[in-house]
Formats: sequence, C-alpha cells, structure tokens
Amino acid sequence: MHGRVALVTGASNGIGAGVARALAGRGATVVLADVDEEAGTVLAAEVGGSFLPCDVRQLAQVEAVVAHALDQHGRIDLAHLNAGVSTGCGLGDDFDEAHYRRAMGVNLDGVVFGVHAVLPAMLAQGSGSIVATASMAGIVAPAFDPVYVANKHAVVGLVRSLGAIYGPQGIRVNALCPSFADTAILGELRPVLAEQHFPILEVSDVVEAFLGIVDSDSSGECWFVVPGRPSEPFRFRNAPGPRSS
Ligand SMILES: NC(=O)c1ccc[n+]([C@@H]2O[C@H](COP(=O)([O-])OP(=O)(O)OC[C@H]3O[C@@H](n4cnc5c(N)ncnc54)[C@H](O)[C@@H]3O)[C@@H](O)[C@H]2O)c1
Repeated sequence: MHGRVALVTGASNGIGAGVARALAGRGATVVLADVDEEAGTVLAAEVGGSFLPCDVRQLAQVEAVVAHALDQHGRIDLAHLNAGVSTGCGLGDDFDEAHYRRAMGVNLDGVVFGVHAVLPAMLAQGSGSIVATASMAGIVAPAFDPVYVANKHAVVGLVRSLGAIYGPQGIRVNALCPSFADTAILGELRPVLAEQHFPILEVSDVVEAFLGIVDSDSSGECWFVVPGRPSEPFRFRNAPGPRSS
C-alpha cells in the first residue's frame, strides 16, 4: 500500500487502532480520527501518521478530517468508518434519549457522514475503498442492546445499497461484521460472555478480516468475522419477488 492514503475513524483504540497499525505496516499513510485525543496522538506518532480530533456525529468535523487528508496527501484511497459505541439503555424504563441519540449518531450518522465526505475525492480519482465496521449484530438479532442492533442493521443496509451504486464507478463499499472482539466496547458484557464460555475474537482476527476485504474486489458485501472460520461475505437470502397470477 505504498503511496496509498487511508483514513480511519475510531482509530485510537481497539479494532481501529489495529487496522491503523496494519495499514501503516503495509506502507500506507494513515490519517487517524477519534474523540480520544490522547491515545490517538500517541498511536499516530507510532505509525508515522497524523491524528485529528473528530466527533463523527458532526459532519463538519468529518469533512475537516477529509480536507486535511486531501490537503496533506492529495488523495484518499481507503476509508475505514469504524467509530462505534454501545448504547447503554434499552427501550423500556431504562430508555434515555441522550444515550439513544449518541449511539445512533456515532454508529449510523458517523458512517453516513464519512461516506458523504470521502465520495467526491474518490469519484474524482475514479477509485477508492470504503469499509464500514458494522457487526454480526447487523446481520442477526441478538437479545441485547436493541438500539445497537438497529443501527448496525442500518449500516448493513446502507453498505449493500451503496456498494451496488458506487461499485460500478470504481468505489467499493463493504461492511466488516465482527462477532464479539476483545476491546473496551464489551464493557459489562465481558463477564457474561466469560461465564458462558462464549469465544471472543482477538483484534488481530478482525484486522485480518479487514485486510481480506481490502484485498478483495467485492462491493456491497457484509463480511462476517466469527471465531474459528475464515471471514467471507454473508449470503443474504433473496426476498420473495412478486408472483404473477
Ligand atoms: N469489539 C466488539 O465486540 C465489536 C463487535 C462488532 C462490532 N464492533 C464495532 O467495531 C467498531 C470499533 O469498536 P471497538 O470494538 O474497537 O471498540 P473500542 O471502544 O475499543 O473503540 C471504539 C473507538 O471509537 C471511538 N469513538 C467513540 N465515539 C466516537 C465519536 N463520537 N467520534 C469518533 N470516535 C469515537 C472511541 O474513542 C474508540 O477509540 C465499532 O463500530 C463497534 O461497534 C465491535
């Protein structure tokens, strides 16, 4: 990836940090964006990239990161729209509108704004790859954090549609859909998963799957990442079409 420029959101920790390290290791120039300025600044120095504070819920901040990348490096070849949070509330007595808005803002608006911000440069180049981190929770419907399940399903639908629209124009759009991975986002779920002996992915497993998407020629695909099997696009069943009478 020498000469290639990559933008990673949610890059300061967890999966984004692993991806930033891997891309830099392959020779890419990496622009890191996150609300965690301290960790992001340290990591940018480690990978020889640049860090910009960015709340992906704010379109202007996302556009500023893209403008920085184009100004400094002249192009964006790869955008990993990865920032994400768990919700911290349900829809019953525990509903909290601020928590809901934050989760939808980071997990869905963050991807929408990221795509909107990078598209003009990629269309002008006639090439580019966008990978949004969704989740297995965007493919199946686990009985926890329904708001997270909803916004990850939204990212999956968004990517499938965008992939069909922009793939023919040379811009591939795909989703990375990990099962539980060993990062801070697990929070209070971690002891529950441990009690059930539920296998948890290493960040390196997710990074390997991410690189598989980058190296593929797919567009509009949602790549599952689960322990013990290679990552590949999830094959959605076709919905029934109209029946002629
Ligand atoms: N770890 C898992 O089990 C798992 C499974 C499936 C999907 N995912 C998804 O992977 C992505 C990365 O999460 P992770 O597991 O590495 O967790 P993480 O908590 O380690 O990393 C998330 C990063 O996003 C950043 N972030 C949070 N709010 C932000 C905002 N408003 N603007 C910019 N950055 C923001 C955080 O500072 C952090 O660096 C998320 O989209 C998450 O939903 C995680």
